[in-house]
Amino acid sequence: ELSSWPHVYRPGLDARRDAPVLLMLHGTGGNEREILSLADAIDPEAAVLAPRGRVSEHGATRWFRRIAEGQFDVDDVNVKAAELAEFVAWARQEYGLAPGMDARPIIAVGFSNGANIALALAVLHPETVTLAMAFSGMYPLGNRELPLPLPDSRVLLLNGEADPMAPSSSVDQLETELLRAGAGVERVARSGGHGITAEEIEKAQAWLATAA
Ligand code: MLT
Repeated sequence: ELSSWPHVYRPGLDARRDAPVLLMLHGTGGNEREILSLADAIDPEAAVLAPRGRVSEHGATRWFRRIAEGQFDVDDVNVKAAELAEFVAWARQEYGLAPGMDARPIIAVGFSNGANIALALAVLHPETVTLAMAFSGMYPLGNRELPLPLPDSRVLLLNGEADPMAPSSSVDQLETELLRAGAGVERVARSGGHGITAEEIEKAQAWLATAA
């Protein structure tokens, strides 16, 4: 079943055996092809794994169900993050991204709803992903606390300060919880709302250079 999960895999031009793989996670209404432009902006030479979200909200593809904007079905977040972790494990085998000693680092990169599943994957499945970059993301677990210590995790949060879809209060909660769990957190707050700016891409590139 995992082999039939719609996705794109691009081996990339970076031939280093330890070169990171970008796990690209699209936003609501996006797909695994459209999100490749973000991968290209961050690192056009990187290997890319881009699966498609498996929830349809009136035809718009996303990663987990929500009750309303910013109000997530947290049980579904848990189920879908677990499925995504299984997919990543499958893809590691399928594409020779190697288990064990030679394991290539996989960095979850998401925008909007994709940022929220990237964060959920990182906090619920640190065995799968310890590095995550979240553009316009927010706290993905509602009023539940982070369930695991995250001593090896590093997270980059990039947000607009006036983003009604990812309110600063939720990003504050996310930062606080991540720090409490022992994760490394870098937070970039810019003016404006939901979206991705050129300055944020530069921050992402700088973070990537130190993280992986
Ligand atoms: C979400 O549902 O994850 C957020 O509200 C962002 C979005 O609109 O997708």
